[in-house]
Amino acid sequence: RPRVFSGMQPTADSLHLGNYLGALRQWVALQDDHDAFYCVVDLHAITAGHDPDDLRRRTRAVAAQYLAAGVDPERSTLFVQSHAPEHAQLAWVLGCITGFGEASRMTQFKDKAARQGTEGATVGLFTYPVLQAADILLYQADLVPVGEDQRQHIELTRDLGGRFNSRFGEVFRLPQPHIARATAKILDLQDPTAKMSKSIGGAGLVELLDDPKRIEKRIKSAVTDTGRDVLYDPEGKPGVSNLMTILAAFTGTTVERVQDDFAGRGYGDLKKAVAEAVLATAVPLAERQRALLEDPAELDRLLARGAEKARAVAAGTLAAVYDRVGFVPAR
Ligand code: TYM
Repeated sequence: RPRVFSGMQPTADSLHLGNYLGALRQWVALQDDHDAFYCVVDLHAITAGHDPDDLRRRTRAVAAQYLAAGVDPERSTLFVQSHAPEHAQLAWVLGCITGFGEASRMTQFKDKAARQGTEGATVGLFTYPVLQAADILLYQADLVPVGEDQRQHIELTRDLGGRFNSRFGEVFRLPQPHIARATAKILDLQDPTAKMSKSIGGAGLVELLDDPKRIEKRIKSAVTDTGRDVLYDPEGKPGVSNLMTILAAFTGTTVERVQDDFAGRGYGDLKKAVAEAVLATAVPLAERQRALLEDPAELDRLLARGAEKARAVAAGTLAAVYDRVGFVPAR
């Protein structure tokens, strides 16, 4: 079965609509006929400043959201990145074949560094994509289900994997991004020219675990466009089109069908339907997540089992890498 690898950063207590529609929902669908590894990437979450207690709580909270959304630990391997030291070990080796200029061209780094200023941005933020490449290459992944914003990082992963293979001999399988076209980029509800993101935050962000009343309020105050017709036109009507995308995704239909259904109806009706559809998924997901967090010991046991399965694969890849690179075996 083809191998899948993906991860999310535990940088917030709740995932948002973009994380869910762009990534997590795809993960759940893929586990049926793929050998899937889903990771909570806590090493990545310390690249931009954090609080240790928040990180601990959010790491478990994110793992519980994977489970609550339908990631099945019997079929998929669910684990925490820092539990498998091979990630950091491989990242070092890959960092040594990454060009400084190559890493400097990563747009996510440039955006985040610009927000933090030259002094605020860390070396960890700069090498973040190299660690991401290590995550993926360690598991010999075929597919990486992510949102559009991660495409460049997957390309770097392929470049680094290919470069290692040609310099030292074939070790790595080169992965393909798996980007669901319809939900590749969910937009901010207040600024539908920008992607929804936790680092921007604000009233345009919809978090799955937020209070249902506030979720509803944020959807109902979404910025819409001039005109009154519910038409799918991402260029001319980005706000309305984004709401249609969200509604279609949560109700398992297409934007064309949504457009037909709303012929002759206004933006108010559309927003009401979006709020209902989001809450129909978000409310039971939040309940399941809360129940899972009530037994943190059981959750930790499950993550420990996941880490064991992950390391069994990761250690094999790392051993091959160390051998190819020319490190003397430690006996
Ligand atoms: P993170 O935690 O920032 O985002 C998690 C996932 O959510 C997707 N996403 C979106 N999709 C659609 N619309 C949006 N507005 C939106 N916002 C976020 C992201 O594309 C991502 O799939 N670098 C990764 C974490 C990572 C990783 C990996 C991913 C580390 N190692 C290995 C895959 C494989 C990230 O930024 O996640």
